Amino acid sequence: MTQEVQRLQLGLFMPNCSNMSAISTYRVVPDEWDYTSNKAIALAAEAAGFDFLFPVSRWRGFGGETDYLGTSLETMTWASALLAVTSKIRVFSTVHVPVFHPLVVAKMGASLDHISQGRWGINLVSGWSKEEFGMMGIDILPHAERYQRTRAFIEILKGLWTEPRGTFSHESSWYQIKQGYCLPQPARPPPIANAGISEDAKHLIAEHCDWAFMSMSSLDSARATVTDIKRRGAAHGRTVRCASFPFVLWRDSADEAQAEVARIIAAKDEVASGNWLRGLSLESGSFDQFTLDMFTLGAGAFPVIGTAEDVALKLKEMRDVGLDGVLMVYQAYQRDTRRFQKEIMPLLREMGVLSP
Ligand SMILES: Cc1cc2nc3c(=O)[nH]c(=O)nc-3n(C[C@H](O)[C@H](O)[C@H](O)COP(=O)(O)O)c2cc1C
Repeated sequence: MTQEVQRLQLGLFMPNCSNMSAISTYRVVPDEWDYTSNKAIALAAEAAGFDFLFPVSRWRGFGGETDYLGTSLETMTWASALLAVTSKIRVFSTVHVPVFHPLVVAKMGASLDHISQGRWGINLVSGWSKEEFGMMGIDILPHAERYQRTRAFIEILKGLWTEPRGTFSHESSWYQIKQGYCLPQPARPPPIANAGISEDAKHLIAEHCDWAFMSMSSLDSARATVTDIKRRGAAHGRTVRCASFPFVLWRDSADEAQAEVARIIAAKDEVASGNWLRGLSLESGSFDQFTLDMFTLGAGAFPVIGTAEDVALKLKEMRDVGLDGVLMVYQAYQRDTRRFQKEIMPLLREMGVLSP
């Protein structure tokens, strides 16, 4: 029996936050966090045939010279605007569970679904930054409870999005919904993603999520994680898709590309990347294999660096370990989205990684 080889979905890990490319002061274009740039990138990605756009949800920066991610566009409002100016591409929002009430998110999501005719998706994250939530007086729950709460949140979203009016109730330590409803409901329940990597996250994803967005330190580790998550999903009779985020940089020669990466790393913002890595490692044991240099490029993105051919081959390898999607982090998003369309996509098509 021949197994069908999946087509790789192409996404962008969008710069809705400042310094998205790298935790570094080295830059070749002005920061692209602003809406004008995000809109231009979204339109270029749609024209190139990209499948989805994905933001980061942050409420404060990580200090240092860059105040990494300190200036950002909120992701529900950001998605609403981008969905209004595009017509084919999917746009995700990223929602911190402890910050919003699930009924409000169900309503906003249903609205976005209608505005976009089914092109919106949600990445529900539990949150990990004490400084960020501390700014709002919200405590970070113990890890396991954080994911139990996220599970309750997703059950409420699904209930409100599918059950007949007034029939959905929910009672848990965090939420009480009494004969709740959300009209309009989405035409079809929007895809739900989670970006955790721990055991707690994997349980949740297997039972409740359509997408797992994950960091990866090597192709082998990605293969193991993807296989594990998909097997767990299948045990619940569900298909879970997996995506990871490469930092993609290419030049005419591999040496030139490496020299550019060396310039980015030489100017790394030690304070901001230290704060980021410390916060994430404290709250999640899953990042021990990452060094500060790895965190500099797209905050832990998988390095995909070399010539256009090297990049295409590496992306194919990512597909071959079972990933269904990639979220590109670029050095210069407007420039590189167009270059990617011209220089890399034809190679990926030739290799059978994208549909013709
Ligand atoms: C692709 C990707 C996107 C993420 N986006 C966010 C985000 O926008 N906001 C956030 O607080 N955490 C984000 N995270 C962090 C995860 O939600 C999670 O806290 C982290 O991966 C640790 O996993 P764990 O909670 O299972 O230990 C993201 C992680 C990945 C891999």
